[in-house]
Amino acid sequence: EIVELVNQQTPLSQWPATLFAVADNIHRPGLLLSEPLVAGDALRAAFERGLPETLEELDRSGLRGRGGAGFKTAVKWRFCADEPADTRFVVCNADEGEPGTFKDRVLLNSYAGQVFEGMTLAAALIGAQQGFLYLRGEYLHLHEQLQGVLTERRAAGLLGENILGLGLNFDIEIRLGAGAYICGEESALIESLEGKPGIPRNRPPYPVTSGYLNKPTIVNNVETFLAAAHIAVRGGAWFAAVGTEKSAGTKILSISGDCARPGIYEYPFGTRIRQVLEDCGAVEVLGVQIGGPSGTFISNRELDRALAFEDLATGGSFIVFNCSRDILRIVQNFTHFFAHESCGFCTPCRVGTSLLKKQLDKIVDGHGSAGDIVELENLCQLVKHHSHCGLGQTAANPILSTLERYPDVYEKQLKQISYEPGFDLDGALA
Ligand code: NAI
Ligand code: SF4
Repeated sequence: EIVELVNQQTPLSQWPATLFAVADNIHRPGLLLSEPLVAGDALRAAFERGLPETLEELDRSGLRGRGGAGFKTAVKWRFCADEPADTRFVVCNADEGEPGTFKDRVLLNSYAGQVFEGMTLAAALIGAQQGFLYLRGEYLHLHEQLQGVLTERRAAGLLGENILGLGLNFDIEIRLGAGAYICGEESALIESLEGKPGIPRNRPPYPVTSGYLNKPTIVNNVETFLAAAHIAVRGGAWFAAVGTEKSAGTKILSISGDCARPGIYEYPFGTRIRQVLEDCGAVEVLGVQIGGPSGTFISNRELDRALAFEDLATGGSFIVFNCSRDILRIVQNFTHFFAHESCGFCTPCRVGTSLLKKQLDKIVDGHGSAGDIVELENLCQLVKHHSHCGLGQTAANPILSTLERYPDVYEKQLKQISYEPGFDLDGALA
């Protein structure tokens, strides 16, 4: 059916929803994906318990942001609630642009009601009347379906005026991105929501102080809202009982690359990488890119490391590479990606990512000398330490993490200089 649709050039927005549901491939549902959540239950539970008590419950759960950085959710929401303002905003960051990450697409396809419930819960806890779902432009095919879920929730009294008779007024609007990776950075996302080009702001002030329209705003990942809704119903202890001391609960992973069963997996934090590879059917593994290109490339000697904020943190991307892959080609691909996606606002990243690309291409093409590797490393440090936002600050990660683990692979690629017999090299150098 898919081949037929592609051949007929049918726009994605007109593909039957069932095709995307099949593509979800949820192989290992865990704490969140296997537990049902009745619509409205999280809101009823929060109001019955009391809103300040529910925020405390969220604190007890230890929930940390699921976009990758892991900032404590209850702390962020409390900062926002405590900020004096006439209005506040809730933003769900569904601009899932990190290569190899697709778990938010699945959550929005199959669990949208729970995500919207989490956003409504957040609105109750921080005192917001308006929310936005900032949807990645490439997820246009989900737009109509998500609008349908919002309409159903309005009809059921779960959005709009006086939600469930609890005195809460809140609604959600969907805004579409236009394909720029940088708009996943929260302050660029806010700029884009305001109708401006997606250029990251200076932080601080953080959005909790000055976000959308300079009002206090929380920006959280799709999975964070979903987890918060479950915690409101089942309590903080239920969530904190799983995972590690510093990384409570589970993480939903998008697994792709060289494995027999790519798709969605939900693991308790603390799970070893070796276990994940076994479950997804990966063999003869060369390495795994964890957290997408901006994350860490680990080698097959590090498979006993753990999935956790204190060891290997990830927003959800897990790309497996087997031994037939060429490390330099992988790094080259990621480096080109960052040069392409740089928003161009600051010089260290705009120029630096292009120079990184050129320098790496030179080495990969076999025209580099030992000095070029030193120069590559220096450039990496410059881009990392002088760029304005996270994109530039992480753009050199693929090069730095592979230079550290596989210096021999880079050295082997250097220009081979051969001399005629009798050539006086020492004399020439002198
Ligand atoms: P960050 O650590 O600067 O901030 C994380 C969150 O905590 C933000 O919402 C920020 O506003 C808040 N925050 C931090 N300090 C605060 C303070 N003192 N007061 C109030 N709020 C505070 O991290 P950032 O730059 O927002 O995100 C980087 C992460 O995003 C990386 O871990 C990266 O892996 C991930 N990422 C995820 C992608 C995806 O598709 N899911 C794409 C690209 C990157
Ligand atoms: Fe734009 Fe890159 Fe500078 Fe970020 S670091 S503001 S993406 S140019």
